[in-house]
Amino acid sequence: MTAAHLPVMVEPVLRILNPRPGERIIDATVGLGGHAERILRALGPDGQLIGIDRDPRMLRRAEEQLRPFGGAVSLVHARLAYLRDVVKGAGLERVDGILMDLGLCSAQIDDLGRGFSFRQSERLVPLDMRMDQEQGETASELLARLDEPELAQLLRAGGVPAPRRVARALHARLPLRTTQDLRDALRNVRLPRRRHHPATLVFQALRIAVNNELQELEQALESAVELLAPGGRLAVLSYHSGEDRRVKEFLAREERGCICPPDLPRCGCGRTPRLKIVARGKPPNPDEVLRNPRARSARLRGAVRW
Ligand SMILES: C[S@@+](CC[C@H](N)C(=O)[O-])C[C@H]1O[C@@H](n2cnc3c(N)ncnc32)[C@H](O)[C@@H]1O
Repeated sequence: MTAAHLPVMVEPVLRILNPRPGERIIDATVGLGGHAERILRALGPDGQLIGIDRDPRMLRRAEEQLRPFGGAVSLVHARLAYLRDVVKGAGLERVDGILMDLGLCSAQIDDLGRGFSFRQSERLVPLDMRMDQEQGETASELLARLDEPELAQLLRAGGVPAPRRVARALHARLPLRTTQDLRDALRNVRLPRRRHHPATLVFQALRIAVNNELQELEQALESAVELLAPGGRLAVLSYHSGEDRRVKEFLAREERGCICPPDLPRCGCGRTPRLKIVARGKPPNPDEVLRNPRARSARLRGAVRW
């Protein structure tokens, strides 16, 4: 791990996951292995951590970082949506904890060649944005495929202001092959400035769509509840409102259990609560944000399996 890598909200995450010697924990987004390292220290030599990442480059770095833990770690190249298959493939039925630290690592954003950042670069950077560059459609290809209303819908879902105007501007400049092309196409669109720079939101909305991030998250949450043993813990760190809202709604549903209309005299769905919420969108403390500005938008949610 580079000296600069600071896992986000690591102490509150560990308080939720509460890893104990000999337990089995899944780090479903292992990244540079920052959280995983702390979890492994608590698990001891008899514990087991399975680290998953869809980005092969991140996995190679996690492998280096976590080598001292030997056989207590196994790393798997997979997507969140395949969480259940990964766990079953490791010969496990249930696990004691699952961590999802969503989105990108700063190392991926800083790797300007991958097209995640709208920062200027001296060279022309392909508009790629795939976390796994071995498969799927690039942002450039996605932009070329969508018609203008579909693109506006994608931008709206990503919280981009004036999505129709932005979609029109982008469409008028197709093909957009490089991050510079995208920046140029956005240059003449006057957009209301909110908390985030509008170009940041456009890049983020495209990245979310290219990597199918929200659907991945929904599938992973469903699997996580089924994979947790009674008393098992789930911790999720999200970095934008689209993600956080899905986690919040999912946990609320699983805490409630019954989905019958409130005016029904007796439950007909038969669903019972499966989770007890223990953290409701906790933000990082200001000291952490000073040390690690990337933590600024983090929200931590956690739950325990009944
Ligand atoms: C914020 S970083 C995790 C950082 C990590 N907790 C650490 O301390 O080093 C998120 C990681 O999740 C991976 N990732 C994001 N979405 C994923 C998905 N749907 N499936 C698998 N990995 C994913 C990214 O490639 C990235 O490496």
